[in-house]
Amino acid sequence: MENRIDHLAIIMDGNGRWAKGRGMPRLGGHEAGTRAARKIVEASKDRGISYLTLYAFSSENWRRPKEEVEGLFRILESFIDREIDRLMEGGVHLNVIGDLSKFPDVLREKILSTIEKSAVNSGIYLNIALNYGGRDEILRGVRRFLESGASLAGLSEESFSSCLDTSHMPDPDLLIRTGGEWRISNFLLWQLAYAEIYFTDILWPDFDEKALDDAISWFATRQRRFGMTPEQIEGKDTP
Ligand code: IPE
Ligand code: IPE
Ligand code: MG
Repeated sequence: MENRIDHLAIIMDGNGRWAKGRGMPRLGGHEAGTRAARKIVEASKDRGISYLTLYAFSSENWRRPKEEVEGLFRILESFIDREIDRLMEGGVHLNVIGDLSKFPDVLREKILSTIEKSAVNSGIYLNIALNYGGRDEILRGVRRFLESGASLAGLSEESFSSCLDTSHMPDPDLLIRTGGEWRISNFLLWQLAYAEIYFTDILWPDFDEKALDDAISWFATRQRRFGMTPEQIEGKDTP
C-alpha cells in the first residue's frame, strides 16, 4: 500500500541562523519564516494533505530575550491581519494547539476570532502550535480527564487521546524538522509515537515546495511496520 500523508507536522527551525547569515536581526528571520509558512500551507493543500501542524512557539521559547518574544507576537499578529483573507479564500480551517491563556489578551482574541471565522472552511486543517509543549499538553490532558469525572477504569489510549489538544485529528504520519538539529524539542510527544521523522539542514525560511517534495519522496520509500515484521507488511500488500 502506498504511504499516504494525512497529517504532516513541521518543526520550523533555523530562522535565527538564517537571519544571522545575512547580517540581519533575528526578527528578520522570523518574518521570513512566515513567508515560508504561507508557501508550505498552500503547497500542502495542493498535495492533498488534510492536516498540517506547524510548531511556531514552544513552551520553552519564553526563555528567549523579552524583545524576541514580543517581536514574535507582533509578527504573528500582523501575519493574521495580512493573511486572513487569503486563508479564507484558500479554504484554510485554522486551529491552535497549546496553552493560549498566557498570551496577550488582544492577540488571543484575534486568534480565537480567526479560528471561529475559518471553521466553515474545509480545504486544509492548519494547526498552529503556540505556547505548546508536549509535556504540558499531557498534564493538561490528565487534568481534563480527571475533571470530566471519568473513572480510572475508563482510562485507555483512546479515551486519553480525546483529552489532548489534538483530540479530533489523526496522529502525524510524517514529522519534518528543518534547521539541522536532530531532536524533538518537546513537540507532540504522545502523537509522534509512530511518525516517520525527516531531518533537513535547510533553514526554515529557505524551505520551499521542492524541499517539501523531497521530504514527501523520502516518506514514500519508508516501510511503516507499527511493530509487525517486514514479511507481515509485505504479505498484507499483495492482493
Ligand atoms: C525557529 O527558529 C522559530 C522559533 C523557535 C520561534 P529559531 O528562532 O529557533 O532559529 P535558530 O534555531 O536560532 O536558527
Ligand atoms: C523548536 O525550536 C520550537 C519551534 C520551532 C517553535 P527551538 O529552536 O526552540 O528548539 P531547541 O531549543 O533548539 O531545541
Ligand atoms: Mg532554533
